[in-house]
Amino acid sequence: MLFGHEKVEILHLPTPLEHLKNVSEDLGVNVYCKRDDLTNLATGGNKLRKLEYFLKDAQDKGATMLITEGGAQTNHGRLTAAVAAKSGLKSAIVTSDPYPGEISANLLLDGMLGCNVHFVKDMETGRQAVIDKYTSEGEKVYYVPMGGSNELGVLGYAECAFELDAQAKELGIEDAVIYVTVGSMSTYMGLLLGLKECGSTLRVRGVNVLPYSENAADEAGNEKALRESLSDYYKRVCGFYGRDFGITDGDFDITTAYIHGAYNNAVEEVRDVMYYLARKEAIIIDPCYTGKTFEAIVDGAKNGAIERGSNVIFMHTGGLPGIYTLHHRVEFERELMPYMHIEE
Ligand SMILES: Cc1ncc(COP(=O)(O)O)c(C=O)c1O
Repeated sequence: MLFGHEKVEILHLPTPLEHLKNVSEDLGVNVYCKRDDLTNLATGGNKLRKLEYFLKDAQDKGATMLITEGGAQTNHGRLTAAVAAKSGLKSAIVTSDPYPGEISANLLLDGMLGCNVHFVKDMETGRQAVIDKYTSEGEKVYYVPMGGSNELGVLGYAECAFELDAQAKELGIEDAVIYVTVGSMSTYMGLLLGLKECGSTLRVRGVNVLPYSENAADEAGNEKALRESLSDYYKRVCGFYGRDFGITDGDFDITTAYIHGAYNNAVEEVRDVMYYLARKEAIIIDPCYTGKTFEAIVDGAKNGAIERGSNVIFMHTGGLPGIYTLHHRVEFERELMPYMHIEE
């Protein structure tokens, strides 16, 4: 029970908090990794912790089906489908992206999980039409918001903050800064709330990968827009739980310097840190979310923004299937071809 809400336990928690010895020696910063990519359904990821709470709410409301929305390659959609499959519910994803011309990455897993993906022209009308279709077929639909980011969606990572605080104490790294990706915001917001709630000395820095300003290349504009969105979100969360968690706008420690101009674009610097982490620690990160966040750590260690000898926790939020998306895959194939030796 957290903030008056229960969950359905479907995950094997806690996830490990690992010291990345090779990376730490190389960067001169003590880097730890919180392995939320190892959460146990359908290749894992951060959305599962939120979905434990959504599932409880859905079951309490007698739902027979979970419907959510996102990009065609939504990790959140795939994990909603996973939770539905495991719980005996139906599922569907609504996306306003066009069909990409191939069933790869998350779409492949969605289909395997038995989840229907609806490619609609317009999200506002399309979402409702899909909900109406299944309702008319007799389903009791529970709608999970994009990214699982509503007021209930903060619970998964508020809980994770308690878990992480206890693990950091055990390792003696209570002064660490957690680097976490900010997309639809509830992972970051949940961590912030949870750390505050348990009086933790850990801090959290959000690395934004989803442009909040109309001009995706405008770093300052993105930061301003994200700060406003975080502030609004926090107010809604306080209203929903009927209490103030003691967070002020000044607590929002975020950077918009690693968006690289667009959401989910193919970026050489991001692929470079993906190769770096794979070759140093055998940990695979993704080009859309965790790659940009890990870039912030590597960059910060090199440019002095992260002090030498200090403790950093990289929150690995999953996203593995993203590496198989066509526009990323072609870049990987081009760069990794030298590793392929076709012997005569
Ligand atoms: C792999 C991965 N990491 C991080 C995030 C960002 O989490 P949030 O949307 O809660 O900000 C997402 C969101 O889709 C994700 O799929």
